[in-house]
Amino acid sequence: MLAVLAVAVLVMCRYWHQVVLAAAALDGLVLVVIAVRVALLPSGARRYWPLARWYRFGWPRLAANLWVSYPDRHRDSDDSWLTGKTLCPRARFRPDPHGFTVKVKTIPGVGRLELEKSSRFLADHWRAARVSVSQPGPGRLVLRAHRTDPLLEVLEVMPPGRGLRYLYLGRDDCADDRFADLANVPGICVGGMPGGGKSTEVTSWQVQLAPSPAVQFVNLDGKGADEYRDFEPRAWLTGGDDLDEALGILEIVHGLMTDRLACVREVLGTKNAWHGAGPSQAWPLVMTTVDECQQYLDLTMVKGDKQAEPKVRRCIFLVSSLVRRGRSVAMLTIPATQKPTTDSLPSSIRDNCPVSLCFPVKTIDAAAATLGTEIRKYESCSPAGLPVPDYTGVATVTLRTGQDPFTRLRGPWVSEDQAAAVAAASAHLRKDPRAFLPVRVPDDARELVS
Ligand SMILES: Nc1ncnc2c1ncn2[C@@H]1O[C@H](COP(=O)(O)OP(=O)(O)OP(=O)(O)O)[C@@H](O)[C@H]1O
Ligand SMILES: [Mg+2]
Repeated sequence: MLAVLAVAVLVMCRYWHQVVLAAAALDGLVLVVIAVRVALLPSGARRYWPLARWYRFGWPRLAANLWVSYPDRHRDSDDSWLTGKTLCPRARFRPDPHGFTVKVKTIPGVGRLELEKSSRFLADHWRAARVSVSQPGPGRLVLRAHRTDPLLEVLEVMPPGRGLRYLYLGRDDCADDRFADLANVPGICVGGMPGGGKSTEVTSWQVQLAPSPAVQFVNLDGKGADEYRDFEPRAWLTGGDDLDEALGILEIVHGLMTDRLACVREVLGTKNAWHGAGPSQAWPLVMTTVDECQQYLDLTMVKGDKQAEPKVRRCIFLVSSLVRRGRSVAMLTIPATQKPTTDSLPSSIRDNCPVSLCFPVKTIDAAAATLGTEIRKYESCSPAGLPVPDYTGVATVTLRTGQDPFTRLRGPWVSEDQAAAVAAASAHLRKDPRAFLPVRVPDDARELVS
């Protein structure tokens, strides 16, 4: 070792000017590479480059202090202290327009859960509004330090549609547009506190789908605030907070579903309306929105009321039957509520909805009631405690991103005027979907007379 050092010193003394030149050239090259890499970054991301480099420099120290790195236990302990060998998750920092992204490789005992637990401390250390943790694949994690939160930007323009089958939900915190595949989805459950953005999100779905003749809408507004009146010209059926009216509408929709189930094979030649070309003008997707569904489904509210109680029981039966049996005949039911407890939204309905959205709520229990208990393990994308009005219109959705079961996104903002204009322009597409079904001759001919 000493000999090599001596030779190097000798060579440096003999050729010192060449060594200095080579070092300067190397420095210049490194500077050019850095300049090119910075120039290639998106313009908004350049300002975060020094910050990303600085925090990259401090990563081993931070990881040790957060207990996400440790001395290699493979060697015996004396050895490991001697060599100073430490296992630290490898991290690559890259600036982005909202802060920086850190790609982390997991190490034994340190994975998504451990970094998720540290996300609040990471956010404090990196002076970020929040740090989100996601897992795109096995052994790989992505931390996003949002110095400015992309979810705070109001989303006024929707991307071009991808056809009836893909429903645009909003833009996630990587600025990716996210769609839900509606095929074989019988229910979408929407929860969130008052003013969270539930009705606006549902309206944005209706605005997207309204220009298609292959969709018919049924709207029930349990709040009785005429939230869907603007859309009435396009909707097949519209109802308010009156229980009898809502029950009547639900009976009609349920009747349509049972008729469809009875003749789907005969009419479409397949038992699933989503197979082949999917819903059509003759067999449209029926989207039934039951907004503020507690008005029709909460039994505790009508306890002791002999008239209302059986009606509420019937509403519960009808909605849960629609969600349980409507999948294959293109019936989509959307219960939305401010209070996603089992009283307002019976579990027979909620648990059969494959897609759930939760807008800001006060507690993690309320979030778990909509999204399932798994959300408790995904603190960095939970909708609990999101401040309103800043995060109005931001929801956590049961939509897979990589290995994560949840995605947090901002829904599109649609004004009342926009909704009214779309409804007016597509009002000619409003049809009674029952009209297209073949007339069924009852087994007992006497039914025709009655
Ligand atoms: N995606 C969004 N982007 C920006 N603002 C939004 C968004 N969604 C909703 N808002 C704002 O929040 C207000 C309330 O939204 P909305 O009526 O959809 O809430 P809600 O959850 O249905 O409330 P409630 O439970 O009282 O019916 C809207 O008037 C609108 O101004
Ligand atoms: Mg509403």
